[in-house]
Order: sequence, then C-alpha cells, then structure tokens
Amino acid sequence: MTEPFVYITRAVPEAALTVLRNGLPGARIVVNSHDRNLSHTELLTAAQGCDALICTLADPIDDSLLRALALKLRVVAQYAVGVNNIALDTARELGIAVCNTPDVLTDATAEVAVGLMLACARRFVEGDVLTRQGRFSGWAPLFHLGHGVYGKTVGVVGAGRIGLRVARTMRDGFGCEVVYHARNRRPDWEQALGARFAAVDELVAQSDFITLHCPLTPQTRHLIDARRIGLMKPTAVLVNTARGPVVDEAALADALREGRIASAGLDVYEHEPAIHPQLVGLANVVLLPHIGSATHETRDEMGRMCARAVVAVLSGAKPMHQVV
Ligand code: DGY
Repeated sequence: MTEPFVYITRAVPEAALTVLRNGLPGARIVVNSHDRNLSHTELLTAAQGCDALICTLADPIDDSLLRALALKLRVVAQYAVGVNNIALDTARELGIAVCNTPDVLTDATAEVAVGLMLACARRFVEGDVLTRQGRFSGWAPLFHLGHGVYGKTVGVVGAGRIGLRVARTMRDGFGCEVVYHARNRRPDWEQALGARFAAVDELVAQSDFITLHCPLTPQTRHLIDARRIGLMKPTAVLVNTARGPVVDEAALADALREGRIASAGLDVYEHEPAIHPQLVGLANVVLLPHIGSATHETRDEMGRMCARAVVAVLSGAKPMHQVV
C-alpha cells in the first residue's frame, strides 16, 4: 500500500504539519509553495492523486474538481467553519468526507464583530486618519462626534456560536437589548439573553447595530439588499463578519455614500478579495481584510483540527467535525 498523499493549498502553521507527521508517518505532505491562492487549473494539477486535501475558503472546491480527484480523494478538510466554496452535494455523492473548524474561531470572530461595531459607532478609523494627517487641532465640544453603544439595540442575524458570543458580549458588556433572527426560534437565546425573535425586516428596522452571523446559502445571498437597507435607521451600523455575498455591496455603497445609514464595518466582501470601488473612497466604512479568525492561537488550532480530521479519515476513524 502506498503512503497517503496530503495536499495543502496554502502555507499553514507548523502545528498542523506536526499533527499530520505524527498521525500519518511516512505520508507525502505537499504544501502550495506560492504565496497566493491557486487557480482551479493549478489546484487540479497540484492536488492530482491526493488522498486528502486541506483547503481554504478561497479555493473553488467545486463539482468538477471533486470529480477529477474522486479516484483517490477521501477527505476535504476546510480551514474555516464556512464551507460555501465546496460542492457538498457532490462530495456526499462521491463519498468524500468534508470537515471544517467550528468552535475554535468563535471568540476571535466575535472580537472582530464587536470591534467593528465600536470602531464604526465611535469613528475610530476616521479619527486615526485625521490625527495622523495633522488635522487634530484640539478638543472641541462638537469635534468628531459619534454615537454611543451602551444600551442600544443589537440585531443579530444567525443564531450560531459566533452570533451567540456577540449577542452575549453586547448584552453583558454594553447593556444592549438583543433582537435576533434565525431559521428557527431559539428558546435558549430568549431565556438566557432575553433576546427577542424578529423577522429580518423587523430586525433591520429596529436595530441600532445589525451584525451578520449566518452562513452563505442560496437563501441568505443578498439577504441585506437595497430594500432592507432602506428599512434601516439613518443612524444604523451594519457589520458583516460572515460572508460578503450576504450583503448587496453595491446597494450598501450607495446607502453609505448618500448617508442613508450611518456606517458599516466589513471584514468580508462580495467578490473577495476585490472590494466595491465606491466603498474604498468612503469615510463611513471600516474595511478589514477578512481577519475574523486571524489570531495566532485560533489559526494554530484550526490547523490542528484540519490535520486531525485528515488523520482520522485516512485511518478509518470518524472525524470530529464532519459536515458531509
Ligand atoms: C470561516 O471560518 O468561515 C472564517 O471566515 C475564516 O476566518
């Protein structure tokens, strides 16, 4: 029997490689040596013949790729919790396991969501820029005013782990009232957080902060569109740390430019890594480069989880976090 071949589409922390080397002695482990994402064709060539693929949310693990690798491929371990870039139905049909990395990135991503709410409401980035540019000419009663966060209403879309952590932080840390929307009502949220369930239209209309934590699915694509942005308060702040296409970016850019909502904090983009050109020129938006899970601790643990999933499947055991 030949030793297994594991292909990894981007450089990963050493912690992941250690788990692979210990769990699969003699395995051929190949890491993409380019400091960039591979195209579909490049990925197909590089991963040909692999038994396991460790990939990222930027890799198009689509129907044709899975079918081309199906002869040997047994597991796809996604270095993320979101799996919208993977053709799950095809994987299911071909008997290829798909695993992801839930839990370990909850705190890190919630930190970014809360940070964006504060940064937007209190205009941190604009303040930093004007200070560096030498435009801070002294304290004044009407200078650089924002809006407070304490006691406001936070609308959380998506009632998964990250949404829950954000809701808790905003309620416990900032005395916020929590309104939430999810596919199913969550009595646990209602009891523990005093959260109120609302339809999306109602949530966006009532919230001072709207924070998105739902997966990207055909149902959530452009969930926040021009019409729903139109329902928001003029003082509303929209934060997206989920997936870019949940928001119609062009409609958001128009609303921000026209001051129809106060501001937005974005960590993800509709056509990532491209960003709508209008957004880049606006002062009332904070733009981050998809860093929700980007802490040393979290990325190490995500790497270990992917590696453990690969070791488990290739050893005939059940992986811990299997989506398909
Ligand atoms: C995820 O896990 O889906 C995140 O977007 C990665 O940071």
